[in-house]
Amino acid sequence: MMLKLLLIAAGWLAAGAATAAVDLAAGKAKAETCAPCHGPAGISQMAGTPSLAGQPDGFLQWQLVFFRAGTRKNPLMQPMAATLKDDDIRNLAAYFAAQPPPRVDASVKADEGLAAAGRKVAQGNRCTSCHKDDFSGTQATPRVAAQREDYLLKALRDFKSGQRVGGGVAAMADVVYPLTDDDLRALAHYLSHLPS
Ligand code: HEC
Ligand code: HEC
Repeated sequence: MMLKLLLIAAGWLAAGAATAAVDLAAGKAKAETCAPCHGPAGISQMAGTPSLAGQPDGFLQWQLVFFRAGTRKNPLMQPMAATLKDDDIRNLAAYFAAQPPPRVDASVKADEGLAAAGRKVAQGNRCTSCHKDDFSGTQATPRVAAQREDYLLKALRDFKSGQRVGGGVAAMADVVYPLTDDDLRALAHYLSHLPS
């Protein structure tokens, strides 16, 4: 019941973004409170912390709602999200969605064997059917191309262990269930080296 109400509330928020005027300047100002962890303009330099730049607007709104409601758990993010009003969430999501996505650091060579293994697992599990062919994400599905490798691995392990359930969307839990930890490590390596 709680979950149903939450989904309705979040759906209303996401729908509102399409119509209500968003205030990008307010989003940018508010985003200064996010920069110590998520980096300037949403490019993270911090271990375990995702880049937000170039994520789909809807995905960002949903995740902030999940943290605020406590259905997605994290000791650093929950207190941050708890202070956000609906308008803040719309403005922040619009601001970060409009920032240029992270770039792969060309000076860091991918391990070709591991990346090839990751590509194979990705192809065998139809990741692109939801995340798009270039892994740039859409709507509630995140961009994963060029995301931090350590964060991608953490996220995949959190879905596998059931630690991350978010909005109760079973999509990712079903996907990772049959995969081994080696598969998850290969996927994280492959995706983090994909150009965005
Ligand atoms: C004290 C550090 C810290 C601050 C400040 C912070 N975050 Fe986070 N945030 C994190 C961490 C760590 C995670 C990863 C949580 C996890 O592992 O599930 C995260 C995750 C997120 C996610 C989920 C992204 C994804 O790809 O799954 C969003 C959205 C987000 N933060 C938005 C914000 C916004 C907006 C602000 C500012 C209002 C903010 N954060 C401030 C540490 C922080
Ligand atoms: C049926 C659709 C679907 C498929 C197939 C799918 N995903 Fe996802 N994925 C999602 C959705 C939706 C989310 C956001 C989940 C949430 O809200 O917690 C997500 C989240 C993620 C995240 C977390 C990113 C972040 O920023 O927090 C990673 C990593 C990921 N997926 C990787 C993959 C990989 C790798 C595959 C293939 C092995 C895959 N996904 C297949 C829909 C899908």
